[in-house]
Amino acid sequence: MNVLAIQASPRKGGNSEALLEAVLDGVRGAGGGVELVRLADLDIGPCVNCGGCEKDGRCVFDDGMIPLYEKIIAVDRIIFASPIYFYGITAPGKLFVDRTQALWNRQRLESEKGAPWHTDPERKGFLVSVAATRGKRVFEGAVLTMKYAYDAMGLRYGGEFLVRGVDRKGEMEKAADELARAREFGRLCVG
Ligand SMILES: Cc1cc2nc3c(=O)[nH]c(=O)nc-3n(C[C@H](O)[C@H](O)[C@H](O)COP(=O)(O)O)c2cc1C
Repeated sequence: MNVLAIQASPRKGGNSEALLEAVLDGVRGAGGGVELVRLADLDIGPCVNCGGCEKDGRCVFDDGMIPLYEKIIAVDRIIFASPIYFYGITAPGKLFVDRTQALWNRQRLESEKGAPWHTDPERKGFLVSVAATRGKRVFEGAVLTMKYAYDAMGLRYGGEFLVRGVDRKGEMEKAADELARAREFGRLCVG
């Protein structure tokens, strides 16, 4: 089973990266193949609502998002990792999500021609996230965003692994129990 892991934190070596690595250890341990993409290293511009993709389901821009479209369509699992920034995902993460509008339009155009909406129950997307605070609702925005993003990408939302109370670099690595649970979550993602 192939997993596309998407790291949306601009901070290298940070908490969501450590958490994602533990999840991916679990994936690899269960025999899954992993391709890791770091959004902050890619040149991905914003969706400008130009309407181009409404005509053919393809984005008019030629940038770092283009190779990701075919990867999203082909993969069995996506694991998207983002820390919480102002009750939502990070800016690189949101640039990526907004650009999946082209895939939403591709599905819409195909379904208008009679094809079923391609949300495939066998293809699943997950969210991995961390936040500095322990607020009850701190992950709600990110979960909602990713549920709708996965719908646009044609994947069923498979669930989330969330850790509260980690802020400074290195704090995630100290939470051995959480990392062990994250490895188990990774195994289940591909199970
Ligand atoms: C711009 C910015 C906004 C943030 N907003 C929140 C927030 O709304 N709630 C929260 O609990 N933590 C917030 N944080 C803290 C991060 O979620 C926290 O530092 C996290 O561990 C960073 O993960 P990373 O190391 O993977 O980048 C914010 C941090 C930054 C830099």
